[in-house]
Amino acid sequence: MFYTFAKGSIFALFYYDSPPRFSAVMIDKDKKFKRYLITSALPYANGPLHIGQIAGAYLTADIYTRFLRLQGKDVVFVCGSDEHGAAITLRAKKDKTSPQEIVDTYHSIIEQSFKDFGIEFDIYHRTSSKLHHETAADFFTVLHESGKFEQKTKEQYYDDEHNQFLADRYIMGTCPKCDYDAAYGDQCEKCGSALSPRELINPKSTISGNVPVLKETTHWYLPMGDYEAWLKEWILDGHKGDWKSNVYGQCKSWIEGGLKSRAMTRDLDWGVKVPLEEAEGKVLYVWLDAPIGYISATKQWAKDHGKNWEDYWKSDDTKLVHFIGKDNIVFHAIIFPILLHAHGEYILPDNVPANEFLNIEYQKISTSRNWAVWLHEYLEDLPNKQDVLRYVLCSIAPETKDSEFTWKDFQARNNNELVAILGNFVNRTLVLTQKYYDGVVPNGTFEEWPEVTKRIEEIPEEIAASIEQYRFREGLAKGMELARLGNQFLAETEPWKLQKTDPEKVQSIMLLALQIAANISIAMNPFLPATCKKLAQMLNIELSNWEQAGTLNLIEAGQSIGEVSLLFEKLEDEVIDVQIEKLQKKAQVHS
Ligand code: 2FM
Ligand code: ZN
Repeated sequence: MFYTFAKGSIFALFYYDSPPRFSAVMIDKDKKFKRYLITSALPYANGPLHIGQIAGAYLTADIYTRFLRLQGKDVVFVCGSDEHGAAITLRAKKDKTSPQEIVDTYHSIIEQSFKDFGIEFDIYHRTSSKLHHETAADFFTVLHESGKFEQKTKEQYYDDEHNQFLADRYIMGTCPKCDYDAAYGDQCEKCGSALSPRELINPKSTISGNVPVLKETTHWYLPMGDYEAWLKEWILDGHKGDWKSNVYGQCKSWIEGGLKSRAMTRDLDWGVKVPLEEAEGKVLYVWLDAPIGYISATKQWAKDHGKNWEDYWKSDDTKLVHFIGKDNIVFHAIIFPILLHAHGEYILPDNVPANEFLNIEYQKISTSRNWAVWLHEYLEDLPNKQDVLRYVLCSIAPETKDSEFTWKDFQARNNNELVAILGNFVNRTLVLTQKYYDGVVPNGTFEEWPEVTKRIEEIPEEIAASIEQYRFREGLAKGMELARLGNQFLAETEPWKLQKTDPEKVQSIMLLALQIAANISIAMNPFLPATCKKLAQMLNIELSNWEQAGTLNLIEAGQSIGEVSLLFEKLEDEVIDVQIEKLQKKAQVHS
């Protein structure tokens, strides 16, 4: 693979042996965007967040948004709690409490852990809000009044012990596509297939465990089949090459497999009420309701900031990007776009970068088995180490296939990469600056090291190109290349040996090392924001613009550096062993 860069542009032309995911056409297309609307999947407020969710839909979106903000782009990053649907009501039932109690509790926990982890949404909203209920009901009304739904009365599974229709998570059975024996009535979480309850093999009510009976009920259906030709053109032709292959592949098999009508309403008492007189006791299907949460969140944000939400949703020069996990692909790449298209006033997502799943210690994350690393617990147990987790999760992000988190690997990446490479380079540079010059940045010239200065100029452009293509692992590795370059430069020039014989040259060496450190504080900022903030403070510089990355005058001769401390600390075996034990103990207790 090799790159050609348009000078002064962050956009690169890429050539691959395999089919290109990005092309000159894409770059031109990107230029038309004036603003960005970035969304991360709304997590269900039925439990705390685990690191698998973070690696799937939040960290990458946050990196992407921070990168856009550093470029001074007009960007809004929205998210919020998904507070409806069977996931919530079932949890309430299990905990013998009300759905409202459940969503209030978990909304706060989730919001706080996002904040503590450094996921910087512009708004973290809630689908139980009045604004959301109104927005979702209006959206339904527009579709209903323009004849976009089919009203059908059909037999559906019913639990006659609990007098309740069994939609979505109220029913479980064997997936007809992959044989997984715990698939839900609307989706198999193993293979990602969207299902309808009647497709399940051996269906069982999740409330009573009984075999359900069939009973007639009326619902409003989205005739997805009517949109097949449009989807073929929009996704299969229009996004070939720029959507990730896992997303494109799933869409292709869906569309080519034929799309069936899907009910957009449910017989439930928790959710957005269907705004029709004849629909008493029915609510909107959570998968119609939840993505509209992106719209209501934007509306609330716009209201709070004196902006016009419609600029972000109804203007072709807005780039809409949905960050999700693989189990949400069909909803964001097919169902929600059909709804937006059918409504007629909305833009469509430009991209739906979905990640695959993260396993923990080689086992699938399971909230029911408590096989998970919970974000709020991590932040409590390992305080001030949010960037270590950000680093590790980005390094192993399941971008193209499922990936593995292990505590030993976490420790190794902290000790051998963050401490030994990044921390070590920064520390050596700053400590020598203090020692030789009392913390005052020396003067110098760089002609002697053209390869080093060339890489300093190139790397930020390469990082930008990686982020633009949703290749966050690659971008982070490029960032570390700057630190490696710095270490190598110091190891080769050996300023500590020259200081006695050629102090003038040492000044140039140290100035260049300081410029590398300053470049790191910008170029790695989207990935490691707290660390980069600390680094900028230690360098005593104020950096806020991506355009400054790749330049060699970020820190000026004559200025003083700030107080120096370590960026990262070594993690000892004891600390890691406690985490491994905790994971195993909790899972055992629970099962
Ligand atoms: O899978 C989930 O956790 C869903 N709550 C995601 C909803 S994303 C969107 F549509 F809001
Ligand atoms: Zn399946």
